[in-house]
Amino acid sequence: MKSILIIDDEESIRKSLEGIFIDEGYSVISEEFGEEGLKIFSEKLPNAVLLDIWLPDSDGINILNSMAKINKNIPVIMISGHSDIDTAIKTIKMGAYDFIEKPLSLDRVLITVENALKFNELNEKKITLAQSTLRYEDELIGNSDKIKDLKNRILKAAVSDAPILITGENGTGKELVAKSLHFNSSRREEPFIAINCAAVPEDLIESELFGHEKGAFTGALARKKGKFELADGGTLFLDEIGDMSLRMQSKILRVLQDNRFQRVGGESTVEVNARIIAATNKSLEDEIKKGNFRSDLFFRLNVIPFFISPLRERKEDIPVLVDYFIDKFNLGNKQKLYITIEDNAMELFKNYLWMGNVRELKNIIERFAIMHYGSKITKQDVADELKIGIEECGNNNEDNNGDDRINSKLESNISVYQDNKTISKYIDINSLRKAKEAFERDYIILKLKENNFNISNTAKKIGMSRRNLHNRIILLNIDSHIHNINAEIKE
Ligand SMILES: Nc1ncnc2c1ncn2[C@@H]1O[C@H](COP(=O)(O)OP(=O)(O)OP(=O)(O)O)[C@@H](O)[C@H]1O
Ligand SMILES: [Mg+2]
Repeated sequence: MKSILIIDDEESIRKSLEGIFIDEGYSVISEEFGEEGLKIFSEKLPNAVLLDIWLPDSDGINILNSMAKINKNIPVIMISGHSDIDTAIKTIKMGAYDFIEKPLSLDRVLITVENALKFNELNEKKITLAQSTLRYEDELIGNSDKIKDLKNRILKAAVSDAPILITGENGTGKELVAKSLHFNSSRREEPFIAINCAAVPEDLIESELFGHEKGAFTGALARKKGKFELADGGTLFLDEIGDMSLRMQSKILRVLQDNRFQRVGGESTVEVNARIIAATNKSLEDEIKKGNFRSDLFFRLNVIPFFISPLRERKEDIPVLVDYFIDKFNLGNKQKLYITIEDNAMELFKNYLWMGNVRELKNIIERFAIMHYGSKITKQDVADELKIGIEECGNNNEDNNGDDRINSKLESNISVYQDNKTISKYIDINSLRKAKEAFERDYIILKLKENNFNISNTAKKIGMSRRNLHNRIILLNIDSHIHNINAEIKE
């Protein structure tokens, strides 16, 4: 029900306005004093306001200004006496929606308020769409049966409103699939609102999801809508749901059951109609066994499950994705200095394990487009970038998805590290990528020292192209550690 706030000191005006708006199905709050009216405004955030210019305790203009500071999107219609027309015009310049002259024509009041509400609705939609994280420039690319099947399932599932749970490793495209589901549904014109449950601190997540009333906690200066309310009519994407606390899981479960909730610090019930899509890279079955995830929430969410395979299990998609990202990043090159790729370089891409999946592939192509613009990417460039030897890539064995290769690579690396007694130095680094970078940085610094900081000679010695060594020095921040090489870097 839409709500109207009337602030006017004349009781007869309040009563007659109340009467017509209640008859028309609005909820009405009316108030005699400006300051009290302002308080109600900040607490209730009505859909429209009728505000008298002359009030016993304050000036309508000041109240209008204060309202704009709290929420400038709520339309305020000024009520003015015949002698205040100049002031009324001034209020329009200050942001009032319109003004109506006394004596009031009730028809005119109704029409003005209805127009204002339509305007407000459009405005709200514009704001919510701007807050929605949707940029639908990305297509779901791939020719593999797995991707074809995924696309088919998206089309079927998009028609329904049932909750969806998307699982898959990091960077496989879970968010992309969620957006695709939204865009293929009848909700496409409505907002797509995403929340990363792992990124919001525990004490804020409740207010982020459900909103809060004015004064619900220190810093809650006005009522704020939560993600559920913003997603009304559209889609709510609960990303990294596996990282949500058990306390929040039970709150989410309740909303999924009733489609209603209360804002933090509020008593009134808010009803919403949002399609829920959740995603996680964890196995929720395992999390349930560990006691970290509620099984009843899992069953609620898992009505339509989507699993996205890792890229190494659909190698046919790699060349299409490489071409797609090359075109995409070339398009972004303002100097029109495009990259192309040597045919045999593609083999390396196909046989790499892509633990970071499509995101890792996309990032590498973007890096090529920036660091090697205008050139043809060679097999050696790719090998350097992926930090693998060219000889490793002839192996086209797709049966075990490269697990044997990973193992033998790990084994030989471990024995090298143990022989050199260097492993203890990196043992405290818990991320393999960071450990590799730390090792690489030490190694390059050592080799640069051995070669008197001459980049060309060092590159030759360690079997890397000069350009790539140069890039690694910058990417690994080696240039800021060692002064001597700065002159050469800048040459
Ligand atoms: N099949 C695909 N076609 C085109 N682009 C893709 C595809 N899959 C993923 N991408 C792109 O890869 C990047 C990572 O995808 P996305 O963010 O959807 O993955 P995610 O599974 O949500 O990752 P994370 O688990 O790390 O959150 C995005 O830029 C996305 O557009
Ligand atoms: Mg994601």
